[in-house]
Parts: sequence; C-alpha cells; structure tokens
Amino acid sequence: MARVALVTGGTRGIGAAISTALKNAGYTVAANYGGNDQAANQFKSDTGIPVYKFDVSDAAACEAGIRSIEQDLGPIDILVNNAGITRDGMFHKMSFDQWSAVIRTNLDSMFTCTRPLIEGMRERNFGRIIIISSINGQKGQMGQANYSAAKAGVIGFAKALALENANKGVTVNVIAPGYIATEMVRAVPEEVLKAKILPLIPVGRLGEAEEIARGVVFLAGDEAGFITGSTLSMNGGQYMA
Ligand code: CAA
Repeated sequence: MARVALVTGGTRGIGAAISTALKNAGYTVAANYGGNDQAANQFKSDTGIPVYKFDVSDAAACEAGIRSIEQDLGPIDILVNNAGITRDGMFHKMSFDQWSAVIRTNLDSMFTCTRPLIEGMRERNFGRIIIISSINGQKGQMGQANYSAAKAGVIGFAKALALENANKGVTVNVIAPGYIATEMVRAVPEEVLKAKILPLIPVGRLGEAEEIARGVVFLAGDEAGFITGSTLSMNGGQYMA
C-alpha cells in the first residue's frame, strides 16, 4: 500500500508542486488548503489529488481535518508542514495583527498539524516530517520581522522533535527555500525584487517550485532514514548557512 502524505497549503505555490511530486513518486496525497476554494478545486481537477479545507492556525480544525483524511485515505506517514503567509512591513510600522497572523499560520501550525499525527507515527515506528522554512528565517530579512521569527522558530522545533523521535523511525527535517517564482514572491514590489533581491542570487534567477519539491521527495523516502534534524538550504547560493 502506498504511504499517505499530507501537504499543508498543498494546492498553490510550492505546496502544489510538492503535492504533485509526491503523487508522481507513488504516494497517496492529501492537499490541505486554507481559503482559496477556486484554486483548490482547480488543483483537484487538474491533478486528481483530494483537497481538504481547514485553517492550520486552528488546533480543533486541524485535529478534525486530519482525522477525516485518515478515515478517507489511511494513517498519515508523511507530513509536509508547508502552509505559510507573509504580512510584510517594517517592524516600526507593524501592527500586532500582522505579527500574530504570521506567527499563528507559520509557527503555531507546527503544533496544530504535527501533534495529532506524532503519536501514530511513533506507534507505527515510521514517520517523515518535512518543514518548509525560508532563507529569511536563516539570515533575517528587512520587512519580515514576523516571518523571519516564525521561519527561524520552525528550525528549532524541528531539531527538538528530531531528537525526541529519532529512536522511533520518525525523521524531522527542514527545507529552507530561497526566492522561488510563486505568487508570494511576485507580491514583492517589482523594484525591490529587481534591485535588492535578484542581484544577490548567484545562480542568477528565481528558483522553481518543482526544485523544492524534489528535495521533499528525497527526504520523504524510506531510504532517507539517517537524515534527521537537518536543514537543506535550496536558495541558488544566496545564503550559505
Ligand atoms: N531587500 C533589501 N532591501 C529592501 C527589501 C529587501 N527585500 N525590501 C525593502 N527594502 C528597502 C527598500 O528598497 C527601501 O530602501 P531605500 O530607502 O534605500 O529605497 C527600504 O528598504 C524601505 O522600503 P520601502 O520604502 O519600500 O518601505 P515601506 O515601508 O513602504 O515597505 C516593505 C517596506 C514592506 C518591507 C516592502 O519594501 C516590501 O514588501 N519588501 C519586500 C520584503 C521581502 O523581501 N519579502 C520577502 C517576500 S518573499 C517570501 O517571504 C518568501 C521567502 O520565504 C523567501
């Protein structure tokens, strides 16, 4: 039986590429999404991957959503904590709403999506938890005090969880993408992107979502069991952690 994978934020951007790549690698995939029904339905009809709507910042909604995926598809062996948002702004102008929206979606979701799954993974002696962080959690980024805090936080979370579960066949790893050609990066003001970001990428271009997805498929494999607590930087050479 194919292993079951859940990808949060799995219907758009990097998440959509991850869902598709896992499906192509033979996994049974469930793609979570938070709000954009139109994009999710389009994704579902394009790929045949079932979609599940719940808010990753809401613990009760995640518990219920995850149980319904397990009822439909079976126990989840692979969790890709990918869902994330930006609410950019210089910190001296940032509201608490901008701060907390990002912390809830990008960091609280580590608890809300992982906690309902970890006991089952431990009991079955197998699990793969892959967390999508960011270059901006590694190096900081002006305009992103909230996002950088959350994306650095997930790296600490992964290391602690990796230690707690290493003897149970459960690995926990992080991928830290650089600037990838998705809607999130296209929302950066064009003059900032052209003048301040692109010239800093030695490879000379934005990354592709499919390039990040390849890393996820690699870490999800049964053969990747000796890799845990690591952070894989995939950023075109922009930051060498
Ligand atoms: N890198 C370097 N400099 C930047 C920058 C960046 N990413 N963003 C802004 N700046 C600079 C501006 O060019 C400007 O410099 P000058 O005064 O020399 O012209 C200065 O910071 C202030 O910027 P603004 O005048 O634009 O100030 P603002 O208050 O109107 O807006 C901002 C500030 C909200 C941060 C806006 O510039 C912005 O959205 N910048 C992009 C921030 C960013 O890089 N976000 C990453 C999104 S992609 C992502 O998050 C995915 C991922 O994981 C990589």
